[in-house]
Amino acid sequence: MRQLLFAANWKMNVGPDEARAYFKTFRARYLPHEGRDAWFFPPAVSVEAAAQAARERNDMLVGVQDIYWEPKGAFTGEVSAPLAVQAGARAALIGHSERRHVFGETDEDTRKKVAAAQAANLVAMLCVGETLAERDAGHTLAVVNRQLSGALGGLDVAALDRVIIAYEPVWAIGTGKNATPQDASAVHKEIRAWLRGRGATRARVLYGGSVNLKNSAALLAEHELDGVLVGGASLDPEAWAQLVQTPAA
Ligand code: 13P
Repeated sequence: MRQLLFAANWKMNVGPDEARAYFKTFRARYLPHEGRDAWFFPPAVSVEAAAQAARERNDMLVGVQDIYWEPKGAFTGEVSAPLAVQAGARAALIGHSERRHVFGETDEDTRKKVAAAQAANLVAMLCVGETLAERDAGHTLAVVNRQLSGALGGLDVAALDRVIIAYEPVWAIGTGKNATPQDASAVHKEIRAWLRGRGATRARVLYGGSVNLKNSAALLAEHELDGVLVGGASLDPEAWAQLVQTPAA
């Protein structure tokens, strides 16, 4: 049976009190299902509340949306991997398109962040994906390959196998336009080929970008998808509990 991962990226929403209330509802509406994991990426201030609220559920895990690569020091406003671990995080998103395009994060930044996450035993979830202009110019695969090489090029097989890749085409994020299941699947195949070329066969590959209750079943019918990374449709705990129960072929 496929082990499906449903990851919620709350972005800059849901404070600590709201996170506690969210988990009360979510835990009541969603009991563990074999072959499914539900992960949550709250804003850093809510990680501890979320991790506490998710405890004793082996199918649930909390992560941070970003980390800085230095472990500690004079970096005002930043959160390091060891600090996130102290708050209860067990995973970190790295290179989310909003980090890349709103905050100017580079491939080299993502490389340092993946290394820092792994050094602190956080699961690194690397986000990759092309802009609309890059897609229209036929550069999707070149962009994704460049982002993979930039962030993961120096890792050995064991480290690569611990990474999760989230393919999130920038034009599909928060726009209501999602890639067709076939589009997503084609890029996932390329991502797996990149990994296989380096001897890695275990890394999970998720899809993200305007995933919702209406399209999740069709997307997850593609066996290339090991799960989904979801923004807007994860903010309501009742709707998210339903989405996590999407029937999968
Ligand atoms: P939406 O699901 O709101 O399009 O966001 C996707 C995303 O960026 C998840 O990381």
